[in-house]
Amino acid sequence: MNEAESTPLVRTVASTQSEMTEIILPNDTNTLGNLLGGRLMHFIDLTGAMAAYRHSRTHVVTAAMDHIDFIRPVHLGDLLTLKSSVNRAFTTSMEVGVKVWAENTRTGTVAHVASAYLVFVAIDEHGRFIKVPALKPETPDEIRRYEDALRRRQHREAEYARRREAKLAATALEETKA
Ligand SMILES: CC(C)(COP(=O)(O)OP(=O)(O)OC[C@H]1O[C@@H](n2cnc3c(N)ncnc32)[C@H](O)[C@@H]1OP(=O)(O)O)[C@@H](O)C(=O)NCCC(=O)NCCS
Repeated sequence: MNEAESTPLVRTVASTQSEMTEIILPNDTNTLGNLLGGRLMHFIDLTGAMAAYRHSRTHVVTAAMDHIDFIRPVHLGDLLTLKSSVNRAFTTSMEVGVKVWAENTRTGTVAHVASAYLVFVAIDEHGRFIKVPALKPETPDEIRRYEDALRRRQHREAEYARRREAKLAATALEETKA
């Protein structure tokens, strides 16, 4: 049996769960000694991609990092833990949720510092889109995230359509002025 034949059509959320831990070093911080937002987004992208790889078992690209909350700062020397899982699979894309905690290594205090939703698209080595397995949510939390992911996709699509319309209207207006 080759790899494609052995790929299941449905995966569980648990099979996509991924985790990464980093210690925050001086190169990761701003002039106040806090973790740079861009560096945190890089860690979020990597951890999100791990869940998407586990779900699709192929190459993935980040299509969107569509919502991110920076809840509190992360300090030099903190241990950063990021956890991700696929919330919902569509046709070739997957929405992944990433949650981030920081641990103060001296006090042991752990705080939730950020959450984000990302969309990854599965492609083959030639850049062609690949259909991904369906996702089966099992627990009440997984079912809630699965349903919320569809609502976020609908919002995203409505927003793209609105922007497309606005751009077309602006172009038409420019042409009438020319
Ligand atoms: C993401 C990308 C592959 C989408 O290509 P496209 O031709 O616009 O895609 P399509 O409109 O045919 O949609 C393909 C899938 O991607 C999803 N998608 C496309 N753009 C998206 C966006 N901005 N946000 C969320 N999902 C998106 C579509 O919903 C669709 O999903 P589905 O098959 O599950 O329904 C393309 O824009 C790309 O290659 N971008 C650069 C990716 C990259 O380099 N990322 C790393 C840099 S940070």
